[in-house]
Amino acid sequence: MKKILFASSETHPLIKTGGLADVAGSLPAALSELGQDIRIIMPNYQAIKHQQPSRQLGSIMVNNCEVQLLETVLPDTNVTVWLVDYPPFFDFPGNPYVDANGEAWPDIADRFALFCRIVTEVAMNRVDLDWQPDVVHCNDWQTGLVPALLSLETQRPETVFTIHNMAYQGTFDRDTYVQLNLPGQLWHPEGLEYHGMMSFIKGGLAFADRITTVSPTYALEIQTAEFGYGLEGLLSYRQDKLTGIINGIDTAIWNPATDASLPQTYSASKLADKQSNKTALQQRMSLPVDEKIPLFGLIGRLVEQKGIDLVLSCLAEMVEMPLQFVLLGSGDKAYEQQLQGFASQYPDKIAINIGYNESLAHQIEAGVDVFLMPSRFEPCGLNQMYSQRYGTLPIVRKTGGLADTVIDALPHTLNTATGIVFNDANPSALMEAIKRSLVLFDNKTHWKKIQRNAMAKDFSWQNSANQYLALYQQL
Ligand code: ADP
Ligand code: GLC
Repeated sequence: MKKILFASSETHPLIKTGGLADVAGSLPAALSELGQDIRIIMPNYQAIKHQQPSRQLGSIMVNNCEVQLLETVLPDTNVTVWLVDYPPFFDFPGNPYVDANGEAWPDIADRFALFCRIVTEVAMNRVDLDWQPDVVHCNDWQTGLVPALLSLETQRPETVFTIHNMAYQGTFDRDTYVQLNLPGQLWHPEGLEYHGMMSFIKGGLAFADRITTVSPTYALEIQTAEFGYGLEGLLSYRQDKLTGIINGIDTAIWNPATDASLPQTYSASKLADKQSNKTALQQRMSLPVDEKIPLFGLIGRLVEQKGIDLVLSCLAEMVEMPLQFVLLGSGDKAYEQQLQGFASQYPDKIAINIGYNESLAHQIEAGVDVFLMPSRFEPCGLNQMYSQRYGTLPIVRKTGGLADTVIDALPHTLNTATGIVFNDANPSALMEAIKRSLVLFDNKTHWKKIQRNAMAKDFSWQNSANQYLALYQQL
């Protein structure tokens, strides 16, 4: 049995902005089911503080800040969560990265540097918990300083750093480094320095004993300039320590047969019941109720990564076709406005919901026929897996985890196909994929066969949690 400290800036259902929370909320539970002693550690944000009962464990003084450590349990699991409670940094509305108006927290470097110091103290068993992990598993830049700080310790636990997204690196100026009062011996080009700036993510990439990312394809992609965002050299230098392990999904939360958010549950053997979800979604989104019209959906952060610009470029042509489109998301204001512009111009075809809504996300996965995910890059992606499990066929671009989880429908793949895959990140390639999906949708026998292929795929954590365990055991 391994003792694992799992550090993350977000964990579903305590707080979530994206897929990292889904992973942090389900991988530890899967490892716990495999008999491992795993504890999650994360900041005690206001949204958690005022909802989740917790008990006080102790207090720690780091860098002149007195921080409390609280304990709670991850809802619906037996996984312990340690909450780093420091109100001057975390007791605010908004999410872990931006305030209620969507502006990045100006002191975000201070916040996550403090978090990393606390994770380090806990990892070194210096908080009177009488528990020292064998492995500290860090996730994304917000935890990047942990492997760096631990590298200065003797008798330290092993470190694993998982990259969920290379586009976010936590880069700040040199003055921030000085003001954070970080050890001078970490400031060098092989350390936290990055072209004269400080980089949180480099702490993970340069110092962790093992690096993982969330799909095998993305593990290769990030070693190239297109996806490595300047750190491709370091990643290929460390390639013998770098592996790709595909994410699993929480098959209890994302299960069309039991999903409490759905007007009508269904399964592969009762596929006809999926239809009621489509009708209810059309009603909810004020679109004409039409059983036969193909309904497309998209859920996600409205940022360049997700290929929203490609969708926008296709919409003018899509509204001329026999289809409807619903979108749930928030992000770049320019995208939000352009999407809303289309919706007000074509209210019978396009419905846009700007915001964050967990139950609507479930209803869209169940109610639409086709899910659009034309990402420019996608480390893993979860929605394409949720879609397949809900018998909703994804259209994805062949990149990262999308390439690893969707099998393209071609004449010779009828027995294995689960969606539609296209190559190039341009509007005409996406448009061609949309047209392919319309042709396929008209062939009900083939469509149902592919739906069933998709629903039969095993996206549970079982396999991937075992791969993480094997990695911890190698250390
Ligand atoms: P990323 O982490 O890059 O945002 P993923 O596909 O890995 O992408 O995960 C996104 C997660 O966030 C999914 O669970 C998705 O359903 C959820 N999500 C994204 N935007 C919204 C939204 N506006 N409302 C509800 N859920 C959302
Ligand atoms: C990131 C990636 C996404 C991945 C998620 C969880 O946010 O953008 O592709 O699924 O992390 O690993």
